[in-house]
Amino acid sequence: MPPLVVGNWKMHGTQQMALSLARKVKRAARELRGVEIGVAPPFTALPALARVLKDSPVALVAQNVHWQAAGAFTGEISALMLTELGCRYAIVGHSERRHIFKETDEHVARRFSACLTDALRPILCVGETWPERRRGATERVLERQLDSALKGIGKTAIGKFDIAYEPVWAIGTGHNATPEQVSAVHGWIVKSFRRFLGDRGHKRASRILYGGSVRPDNCASLAAVDDVDGFLVGGASLDAESFVAIARAFC
Ligand code: PGA
Repeated sequence: MPPLVVGNWKMHGTQQMALSLARKVKRAARELRGVEIGVAPPFTALPALARVLKDSPVALVAQNVHWQAAGAFTGEISALMLTELGCRYAIVGHSERRHIFKETDEHVARRFSACLTDALRPILCVGETWPERRRGATERVLERQLDSALKGIGKTAIGKFDIAYEPVWAIGTGHNATPEQVSAVHGWIVKSFRRFLGDRGHKRASRILYGGSVRPDNCASLAAVDDVDGFLVGGASLDAESFVAIARAFC
């Protein structure tokens, strides 16, 4: 699978801005070989972007997804609604969802499973806070987050999801994890896959992205790390030139 670079636009911009950014990314993506690109706009921009990105290799990504197909869940959106609009991926368990909106491991696991059954490829975000890292609990936290989402999945789900390692302390702070820190965690995740999934499927079937203050000036050293198969980019993805420069690190 090619490396995957996704721009998470979070709750930014107007329709006009989303359209203009998507058009620029679409144009630039034509010249990028060997890397898959996705954009995750606010939900309200999905229909317009689906039209702009039709017949383009740029994938449409949802920022979240609910676990039920339909029902009385004010403010939520289902996997079916997203695939109907052409979304190929959904981010689940982003740290802002976990920390600001108090989503638990159980919520995240349910969102993750709903994607798998509805042919939406989830990007499962995991990551430790700074106090957790400081007290040496990084692996324990990641193990809990991975275990809770992966324990229930069946054989057929192998190869149908990706993981994003996003240390909470690196998101939006300008302080990215160092290549050494990323290498240690990604290597640990690869090993853990074997434990969670046995020999049935591991890293090659699931990409492991890094996210947290990825910028044009640090992307090359992070992309060069073994077991880094892409990026989840926040702030820098709101500028087409920066985002494309980041994606180019994998070309
Ligand atoms: P950042 O955000 O690139 O602005 O640190 C990353 C993310 O939230 O996925």
